[in-house]
Amino acid sequence: MDKNSSSLSPKQREVLQMLKSGQMKRINIFEGSVRSGKTYISIIVWGFWVAGSPKDKAYLMAGKTLRTLKRNVLDIMSGLFGSNFSYNLYKKEAELFGRKIYLESAANSDSENKLRGMTLMGAYCDELTLFTESFFAMLLSRLSERGAKLFATTNPDDPSHWLKKNYLDNKSANLLSIKFRLEDNIFLPKEYIKQLSAEFHGVFYDRFILGKWTKAEGRIYDGFSSKNIISAKMLSQRLEEKRLIISTVGVDYGGSGSASAFAHVGFDEEFSNVYVLSEYYDKENRSAESLISAFSRFIGREKARFPTLGRVYCDSAEQLLVKSFRKAVKVEVSNALKRPINTRINMLNRLIASERFFVLDECKRTIDAIENAVWDERSPLLDKRLDNGTSNIDSLDALEYAVERFEKQLFKL
Ligand SMILES: Nc1ncnc2c1ncn2[C@@H]1O[C@H](COP(=O)(O)OP(=O)(O)OP(=O)(O)O)[C@@H](O)[C@H]1O
Ligand SMILES: [Mg+2]
Repeated sequence: MDKNSSSLSPKQREVLQMLKSGQMKRINIFEGSVRSGKTYISIIVWGFWVAGSPKDKAYLMAGKTLRTLKRNVLDIMSGLFGSNFSYNLYKKEAELFGRKIYLESAANSDSENKLRGMTLMGAYCDELTLFTESFFAMLLSRLSERGAKLFATTNPDDPSHWLKKNYLDNKSANLLSIKFRLEDNIFLPKEYIKQLSAEFHGVFYDRFILGKWTKAEGRIYDGFSSKNIISAKMLSQRLEEKRLIISTVGVDYGGSGSASAFAHVGFDEEFSNVYVLSEYYDKENRSAESLISAFSRFIGREKARFPTLGRVYCDSAEQLLVKSFRKAVKVEVSNALKRPINTRINMLNRLIASERFFVLDECKRTIDAIENAVWDERSPLLDKRLDNGTSNIDSLDALEYAVERFEKQLFKL
């Protein structure tokens, strides 16, 4: 490891010093704002610690999925540790300074069973609030070697989240929480920090910029206003300046009591702006056949209006319908990613706050859904949109399925 500490931020240097002077506890949580340098230093701390721990013991790294673990952590480890680190996702194994590391997905209930038989010396968890409490509790129970430690990163969430209530606020836990603020990351240009801060509102600002555990209350998209609603004339003026480069349709199927919704969403050059171009909403859900023919008509009409229409992303819960949809149209139809609800909400809120999100005024259902979406304040854990039939979350799901694929391009990640 040739990371000399002069290439670390003062905050990161302080954390490394804590490791060197033996101040790490059994559980070590790196928490706080986005982009604040938590993951980067947690990886260095993990590397140092593993390198100084017994060779013949077992170690584990977990992320919500193996894909996010790779993207958020393993690829960065390859850059930092060079030939001292290698991994194989198919085997779910890695090697760090000659120590064997198991790789697991915390979203998979099989993984929890696999943990059951293990005796671990160390563990690293990426985005810990996305894990279930039972996976985490199982992991802690397996960390039974003498001097065993766990390192984890996370952004703050609801104050009643299990991690906050049962661990961070638990005075008797052998736990160290290290808090990071956005400005701790001296490697980010000031202008970028300013811009990022302006993109977050309300509860997301508190959590992701200030790094506070804050409850979600009231309107979800509270920055959405008449500025975000445009006429067909305004749309065509805007598209003359920056043309659409791609557009996609998101599909949410109605089950019992909910509606079926389609949203046609366009992205202009450089993914500068996002436009909701058209919607379909059907509360009655008479039959699969009627939905398929409505879908086929919708796609035909939209493709004629906007030849940019290239892809459809469907709720993956109904594979038979996805198949029928695929047969019914000439556009590529795939499963929606269905990212975690807060990720999707946050994406839309960032677009709204930075004045990059517009809905055509004729998309009444979508406008109504965005204006009236509220947090479910009774939901005991994790944030939830209120879904009691009074608000239209189907249009929101469809809209998000159409947008979520482009997170990278939209936010230049
Ligand atoms: N010491 C450093 N030297 C160079 N770049 C750094 C350093 N620390 C952080 N960075 C860079 O800053 C960015 C944000 O850092 P990092 O990913 O660690 O933040 P984070 O707190 O984990 O953010 P998030 O909550 O969004 O996951 C990354 O691009 C990272 O490479
Ligand atoms: Mg991170």
